[in-house]
Amino acid sequence: MLSYQHAYHAGNLADLHKHALLAWMLDYLTAKPKALSYIETHAGRGLYDLSGPESEKTGEARAGITRALAENWLPQDHPLQAALEQIRHMHGPNAYPGSPLIARYFLRPEDNAHLAELHPAEHEALSRVGGFAYLHKQDGFAMAQAVCPPMPRRGLLLIDPSYEVKADYDAVPRQIGLLHRKWNVGVIALWYPILIDDRQAPMVRALMKDHPEALLSEVRFPPARPGHGMVGSGMFVLNPPYGLQDEARRIAALYR
Ligand SMILES: C[S@@+](CC[C@H](N)C(=O)[O-])C[C@H]1O[C@@H](n2cnc3c(N)ncnc32)[C@H](O)[C@@H]1O
Repeated sequence: MLSYQHAYHAGNLADLHKHALLAWMLDYLTAKPKALSYIETHAGRGLYDLSGPESEKTGEARAGITRALAENWLPQDHPLQAALEQIRHMHGPNAYPGSPLIARYFLRPEDNAHLAELHPAEHEALSRVGGFAYLHKQDGFAMAQAVCPPMPRRGLLLIDPSYEVKADYDAVPRQIGLLHRKWNVGVIALWYPILIDDRQAPMVRALMKDHPEALLSEVRFPPARPGHGMVGSGMFVLNPPYGLQDEARRIAALYR
């Protein structure tokens, strides 16, 4: 039973962190004239309406991307800014791209994309905008294990679970270990929440023990509402593209 719906959280401060780094990596990887693979285990619906009742209810986008744009947090030439402008040009001023549509902005005809989304309604919505990719209505880790190593071998895998159950945290280090063994040249990026009770900490420790060379980018922010458990956002990146460390420092500075 899947109950998480990203529409309540799209464009929040965690999305801004994750999507800014994702857009930067895709911009970097697609600057070279060599085809790549883009894979996502937990894709979501791809396109969000920040004027919709879900977003209005939580106000998370208002405190996130809406505030960031009003206050010019991102440089005008940041790759996320360019992707967002194109989405708003196509879908209106309140549209916000999920990670699949951020990827679509950068991917070229020679690139190959696989997106998994298990929730029936989210998958249905994704199928309306995800025509550029192979769409999988199955568990994202099972899909990734089946398609890796992908062709072309160059590429990026984004893992962005909803962490609805503790088992999600337990599964990640083993899944990433297996994927990295199969696809040792792939960029593997994992998003995780930083929670007030530090529930994510054992997972992050296990990942860094197994992959001490990986890049870790963490930002902190106030909870969206009193009593809300998320107080930050983390990205773990195996085989980070050259320059990502500097970009992660620039993005982290926006949160201070
Ligand atoms: C955090 S959201 C994804 C957000 C998206 N990556 C973005 O940045 O725009 C997580 C998504 O994973 C989906 N999901 C949950 N369990 C899944 C599973 N086992 N396999 C694939 N998708 C799953 C949920 O329905 C939800 O849409």
